[in-house]
Amino acid sequence: MAFIEAHNLVKTYTPRGSGIVRALDGLTLAVPRASVQALLGPNGAGKTTAVKVLTTLVVPDSGTATIGGVDVMRDGDLVRPIIGVSGQYAAVDENLTGFENLDMVGRLYHLGRQESRARAKELIDLFDLTEAQNRPVKGFSGGMRRRIDLAGALVTRPRVLFLDEPTTGLDPRSRLGMWDIITSLVGEGTTVLLTTQYLEEADRLADSISVIDGGKVIAEGTSDELKASIGGQRVELNLVSASDRQKTFEVLARHGNSRPTISPDERTLTVSVVDGPTALQLILAELGASGVALFDAGMRRPTLDDVFLRLTGHAASDEDSPNGTGKKRDTGKKRPNRGRRARDEDPTPSPGAAHTDPDRT
Ligand SMILES: Nc1ncnc2c1ncn2[C@@H]1O[C@H](COP(=O)(O)OP(=O)(O)O)[C@@H](O)[C@H]1O
Ligand SMILES: [Mg+2]
Repeated sequence: MAFIEAHNLVKTYTPRGSGIVRALDGLTLAVPRASVQALLGPNGAGKTTAVKVLTTLVVPDSGTATIGGVDVMRDGDLVRPIIGVSGQYAAVDENLTGFENLDMVGRLYHLGRQESRARAKELIDLFDLTEAQNRPVKGFSGGMRRRIDLAGALVTRPRVLFLDEPTTGLDPRSRLGMWDIITSLVGEGTTVLLTTQYLEEADRLADSISVIDGGKVIAEGTSDELKASIGGQRVELNLVSASDRQKTFEVLARHGNSRPTISPDERTLTVSVVDGPTALQLILAELGASGVALFDAGMRRPTLDDVFLRLTGHAASDEDSPNGTGKKRDTGKKRPNRGRRARDEDPTPSPGAAHTDPDRT
């Protein structure tokens, strides 16, 4: 039995003035002990709702969940002492210092005065907050807030840690620092469930990734498996003239290992390739010889958008921007290909895809 198990979790909301929202729509997960599981998905995918259900903060409409064999819904009192949660929005008292915040958590958990202080000190050092420990949190940077919030989740040495988007909104340097901290925790045997919108983050930290959309898992595997399922590197070309699209499509199709895609304006073509530099050279040579003019040409790694486009037929950023400025996703809406697994995916873009191939248009 996996350490964290969730089976067919369903949670619906009926916000005033709109239809029913299926925040979780049959979510199933199995996380082995001492491993890191990523829930990768765009805004509105159901990540926070999943964390809330597993941490006893929200009761699902149906489905089951266990942590360490204990029923999360029935025996929440037994689950809470062994878990720690660090949320998308840091839950710290602005007016207390970093040290006081951690000490307070220890007291709330009845650690006792001495042990609370000792644990707070230990975590302050571990998280490199020694300089800031006696300053009120309201003066902390975003990265420091996240660290103090995560430290708070660790006061009781939980065996399971839930990290809800631990680095969203952080600058690159703070993000790297956070990744180091998470990596060292895992080395100590903590089981971690981490949510993220970043493929790169899941890639770096997780043993296994569940891609979620519309409240359910649409693909799962290691980062290598997922990337292989959508192809490794991408070659992307920008045409000067859309009239060259057919010729370019044929060249890309010959050198790529997936069907090339064409943007709606018909001037950007992308294909996944096995060996990026070699493929790019060959493609450029052939296009040069046939007189196709390019604005831009280059290689790139698959992004979350590529994963989503291939798995769901819609881009992750269709309705939401990754930084959360977009409006909420309507999870009730049916989309092509939803629910299919990476392993049975065929390489042809669906008719509803944002990118189409020239044979269809
Ligand atoms: N308390 C709530 N009331 C109404 N709708 C909610 C509530 N919480 C979440 N939702 C909706 O459920 C869906 C999933 O939300 P959430 O779990 O927060 O997604 P994520 O964390 O992946 O961005 C969204 O459409 C969101 O608007
Ligand atoms: Mg969230």
